[in-house]
Amino acid sequence: MPLPEDFMQELRAKSDIADIVSGYVSLRRSGRNLVGLCPFHGEKTPSFNVNPENGLFYCFGCGVGGDVITFVMKIENLDYMESVKLLAQRAGLAVPENSFDNSNAKLKMRILEANRAAARFFNSQLYTEGGQAALDYLHRRQLTDRTIRHFGLGYAPNSRYALCDHLKGMGFTEYELVQANLASKGANGRIYDRFYDRVMFPIIDLRGNVIAFGGRIMSDAKPKYLNTSDTLVFKKSANLFAMNFAKNSGENRLILAEGYMDVIALHQAGFTNAVATLGTSLTSEQAVLMKRYSPEVMISYDADEAGQKATARAIPLLRNAGLLVRVITVPNGKDPDEFIKSHGIQGPARFKQLIDNAGNDVEYKLNRVRQNVDTETSDGKIKYINEAVKILAEIDNRIEWEVYASKIGSEMSVDKYAIIQQIDKLKRQKNRAESSKNFRTLQTATSAKTDRINLQKADNLRAAKAEEALIAFIVNNPDSAKKVFERLPSDKLITDFNRKVYKCIQERIQEGKSAMMMDISEFFTPEENARIAYMLLNFTQQALTNDAVDEYIQVILRENDKKILNDVAQANENDIQDFLNKLKQQKK
Ligand code: GTP
Ligand code: MN
Repeated sequence: MPLPEDFMQELRAKSDIADIVSGYVSLRRSGRNLVGLCPFHGEKTPSFNVNPENGLFYCFGCGVGGDVITFVMKIENLDYMESVKLLAQRAGLAVPENSFDNSNAKLKMRILEANRAAARFFNSQLYTEGGQAALDYLHRRQLTDRTIRHFGLGYAPNSRYALCDHLKGMGFTEYELVQANLASKGANGRIYDRFYDRVMFPIIDLRGNVIAFGGRIMSDAKPKYLNTSDTLVFKKSANLFAMNFAKNSGENRLILAEGYMDVIALHQAGFTNAVATLGTSLTSEQAVLMKRYSPEVMISYDADEAGQKATARAIPLLRNAGLLVRVITVPNGKDPDEFIKSHGIQGPARFKQLIDNAGNDVEYKLNRVRQNVDTETSDGKIKYINEAVKILAEIDNRIEWEVYASKIGSEMSVDKYAIIQQIDKLKRQKNRAESSKNFRTLQTATSAKTDRINLQKADNLRAAKAEEALIAFIVNNPDSAKKVFERLPSDKLITDFNRKVYKCIQERIQEGKSAMMMDISEFFTPEENARIAYMLLNFTQQALTNDAVDEYIQVILRENDKKILNDVAQANENDIQDFLNKLKQQKK
């Protein structure tokens, strides 16, 4: 149900997009826009634009865009109504009650309630006879009762119906349980518990909601962990385990570990700033999330080869999000959990030493290379220096180059300026390659050939561009829009998507309503909104003269005529007659 006009107007007035985006992204002014590093993908040069006049944002790097509501939806992982509610709350407005019967929002609420009830159920099972083995397991892994309570750990009983029966008894429907991914539906149509005979780790979001579970088997059987699949309330790639605690740790850095068990052991040892991904490798979304709470991340992955690979992969992702990166090296192939335990009561102090000795990401990489070549030989030396140059060319900071070049220079007895020169050369090559790659991405993102939103654009490029320019014009000049509407009825637009946008804006303007991005976004999908944002951003840069407006209208009308001519073969007599009449009129 659409929200009342006056409410939206007030919400719009009180939700300045520049203000709101600034809470997540550091923006600087550039012409009519504000620009910054995109929070939705990793990048080094800003392609994320905010246009306060039109209340929209658009990223030329990854193509996301929309209005302030879309922004909140994406960055907070909320649906439309939830974002409106959040913005309203921020603005001190009450959302009109009857507009809140969004069934998705209701289902989400039910899923969260079911998850919370499930977490309670799993936890209580630890203290039953059937759960004794699980409690013993956790104790054997040296978790204290306090830690078990703090993380809300639990046990999913060895039954295929225990949780389902319990939650159904509480009034949850089978549909809700399947949607929560707490249950699966069998071939016979019956639902059964997704987790059974596993130790359960609830995953909690930043607002304290239980959004998912990880379940560990207690034997060596596979799979070791079973995690909730993505649901309406859970997106694996956008959440971090224990971030709800870590954000309040008071530390100005985070520790990124690989596993749930590592994080829990670290918290128990006093390192309450530890987080982990949720059974998948790190994403740039997670890096950006970390950046929101902390300027620095210390990677503390397992010391095995897989862990080192994951470290190498994580470093650029974190750096690109603007984070300072350090790497904690746990000796003897142990993971942080094993390391802390192996030192008994000294564990926390020993781990603190590892933290204090952690090198930054560059030192870490240089060490890795150095371990693999014999720098006693000339070949080895050259290989090391070449690899080092590659590593250093990844950084933008000249002072850092100097520091490392001096160090490597004196270690390998070569002139540091020779090294710097090599870095400089490689860097320039890379920059050239990158800017042409960026250009190509931008080209593909905006080229008509790959256009999945406006399917007819490729075949009607001129008309589609004219349509887009006119759409931007009427949004920016509602007072002059009437003249455009008179001369260009919406059915004249050539491409379906642009026609839909034009019509929507026309209806609003003719009803005397505002037609800014935020007023129309609810009628379009997120992808469509991104396209509209792009159109407005692109064609708002240059103010259109009246002549240009005329010309664009003419282009579209002429394309219409051409289309009719093309269709003439299949056309019936009436169409042809209409067309001839029109030609006559135009001649007059
Ligand atoms: P322990 O072996 O009990 O110490 O657990 P751990 O947390 O140290 O796990 P491990 O280092 O083996 O794996 C790191 C993380 O990868 C885990 O916490 C899980 O999130 C994930 N993971 C490990 N095994 C599996 C699996 O079989 N399936 C899935 N989906 N994720 C897994
Ligand atoms: Mn482990």
